[in-house]
Amino acid sequence: MDRKHSLDKLPQDIRSLIYLVRDTAAKKNISAYLVGGFVRDLLLGVENLDLDIVAESDAIGLAGEFARRIGAAEVVRHKRFGTATVRIRPGFKVDTFAAPKPRGKPTPLSINHERSRRIDFSTARKEFYPAPARLPEVSPGNLRDDLFRRDFTINAMAVSIARDSFGRLVDFFGGKADLEQKKIRILHDLSFRDDPTRILRAVRFEQRYNFRIEPGTLRRLKEAVKLKALFDAGPHRLRGELILSLKERSPLKGIKRLSGLAGLQFISPGLKFPAGAQELMRAIAKEIAWFKERYPRRRELDSWLVYCLGLLDPLSLRAVAGVCAKFAFRRGEEKRILDYKKINHKFAADLRKYRQRPSRIFALLEPLAYEVTIAVKAKYRDRPIQEAIADFFEIYNGICIAVGGDDLCRLGLSPGPAYRKIFSKVLSAKLDGRIKSKEEELSLIRQLVKEEQGDV
Ligand code: CTP
Repeated sequence: MDRKHSLDKLPQDIRSLIYLVRDTAAKKNISAYLVGGFVRDLLLGVENLDLDIVAESDAIGLAGEFARRIGAAEVVRHKRFGTATVRIRPGFKVDTFAAPKPRGKPTPLSINHERSRRIDFSTARKEFYPAPARLPEVSPGNLRDDLFRRDFTINAMAVSIARDSFGRLVDFFGGKADLEQKKIRILHDLSFRDDPTRILRAVRFEQRYNFRIEPGTLRRLKEAVKLKALFDAGPHRLRGELILSLKERSPLKGIKRLSGLAGLQFISPGLKFPAGAQELMRAIAKEIAWFKERYPRRRELDSWLVYCLGLLDPLSLRAVAGVCAKFAFRRGEEKRILDYKKINHKFAADLRKYRQRPSRIFALLEPLAYEVTIAVKAKYRDRPIQEAIADFFEIYNGICIAVGGDDLCRLGLSPGPAYRKIFSKVLSAKLDGRIKSKEEELSLIRQLVKEEQGDV
């Protein structure tokens, strides 16, 4: 690799971190390399700020010393695997030396970082898979071993950050040529059987970069599919890869390709990706864009989850519950997935019917997560529903009432469940335009408190 072409073009804050790893490794006499997706994207000129470091010895010691020199960092060590993750808090400062100019002296460099960072350090290792789809047995190795255990040639390159060979590309398996020829290629014939999640990864990188899975790799992928490798893979690892696939810029393309190559039965036995589901995914993409453009300051949408709702849409509630159990989605994720699945034609009919009653629309949509509401908007394309949901986001979701607990207390009502009931009635009245000012809210709560007290 042309050295100038690569590391020198990185943003200065990232470079300062790399220089500090270089200096720390040199002091500890450790050979350290940048590896994996970072190197791939460096060569492609694509931004990737996740630093992945492989050290040929004692990565944990290297990470510890690096974190000590930074100060505002914490290290999570996994002694069994010889790996460590350094999390650096925002607002930290790096004092180091810039890359030496040819025959010049290194210049001091000091950068204040505004963003938090995470850097993964691992000690070079060899992997051996005792049986297909099992977790590998790990033993110490050198850089070549460590690169050879990886998924594809394009992810199996390293860049040296040793002082005397700083910036040199290490490419044992032809990764650079494959990048240039836009090819996804495995490193050995059993790669997909060893780790079937690589089937999803092959499709993900192919679609992300508009590459092609090269014919030999495609043959091995199909063999692994025939041998039902995806059914042997650990569901948690599959879930991780599935989520990553849904986080890609156009998940539709990737899911379509995956469905064509491997089927989706490994997610749920009857799952297919028919034209209707593809149409729904397209509509979801549009609705996500609509929401982001319109409400840039609202809470971030978990876009992957909205796509996941679209992907699972053809399944029954029971089958979806089975998917949640198998993949052990987090509780909040499972809730949103099941909430969506419970939405039926009656719910849609209610949304249409109550278009003129904002408080009813609010009552229907407020309990749902934004992700679910966006998926509903993508699924039901008729105007009344589009308007009801747009109004919910635009108006109803932002309306607050001016009265509070103090006002109720002053009227002599002791705190309890009645408070919630009263606030909800005031909000409904406000949403429906029956009251507007704080005075009107106060007079309504007076009346409601009387009713409550009369009830007692
Ligand atoms: N890797 C692998 N097999 C896997 C998962 C990961 O060989 N099943 C290796 C690859 O070398 C990969 C690296 O570990 O580059 C880091 O993995 P990950 O962070 O998942 O991938 P990235 O390549 O960084 O991809 P992305 O750009 O999507 O983060």
